[in-house]
Amino acid sequence: MTNQVRIAPSILSADFARLGEEVAAITQAGADFIHIDVMDGHFVPNLTIGPMVVKALRPHSARPFDCHLMIAPADPFIAAFAEAGADIISIHPEAGPHPHRTLQHIRSLGKKAGYVLNPGTPVEVLDPVMDLVDLILVMTVNPGFGGQAFLSSQLPKIAAIRKRIAASGREIALEVDGGVNEKTAKDVIAAGADILVAGNAVFQGGNDVKGDTGYAGRIARLRG
Ligand code: DX5
Ligand code: ZN
Repeated sequence: MTNQVRIAPSILSADFARLGEEVAAITQAGADFIHIDVMDGHFVPNLTIGPMVVKALRPHSARPFDCHLMIAPADPFIAAFAEAGADIISIHPEAGPHPHRTLQHIRSLGKKAGYVLNPGTPVEVLDPVMDLVDLILVMTVNPGFGGQAFLSSQLPKIAAIRKRIAASGREIALEVDGGVNEKTAKDVIAAGADILVAGNAVFQGGNDVKGDTGYAGRIARLRG
């Protein structure tokens, strides 16, 4: 399991004035996915990136774009993110009254569908949608900002979902997002995650390879 862990740097912690270069730099440094945090100032208390920026970033990396939508409603924007170049589109169940339909819609556009569980969201929300998800994302912070402290209270939830995925017999990725660093990554991997999102743990300090090993070293060390 450990050697299969994949890393999805969150560009929320990148230098927004040089976003294209930053996406190219993490790609060069070994990122497996590009995690893009989309916030609307309503579902979460912050505003970030829309489909136009996703489209502008698309030529800067061949890695899959993992778009984490923290917006409500999400439905009116799904097609726009798909057209902009998203490969995975993840939604929160609380973002609208019809998450089942939204997941169907994402798949109908040929994209992978993700479902995101906030720290206060129970695992049971997965029951009706296990046949519709390609990825389950467990939040280990309350969404809205990078650089928050990891909530270790979520580790049993990660382990419980790993069991549910095994029992389902389906190929569903288990991703964890929030406060993941070299230390907490070990616990997250032990609990059963196979994709780690990391913002500050990758980008903080920039890509200056003189001081440490930059993005490549930080990404490599997160793999455990
Ligand atoms: C939080 C976002 C995360 C965030 C992670 O709302 O979903 O992806 O950027 O940042 P770190 O790794 O710094 O906690
Ligand atoms: Zn995220």
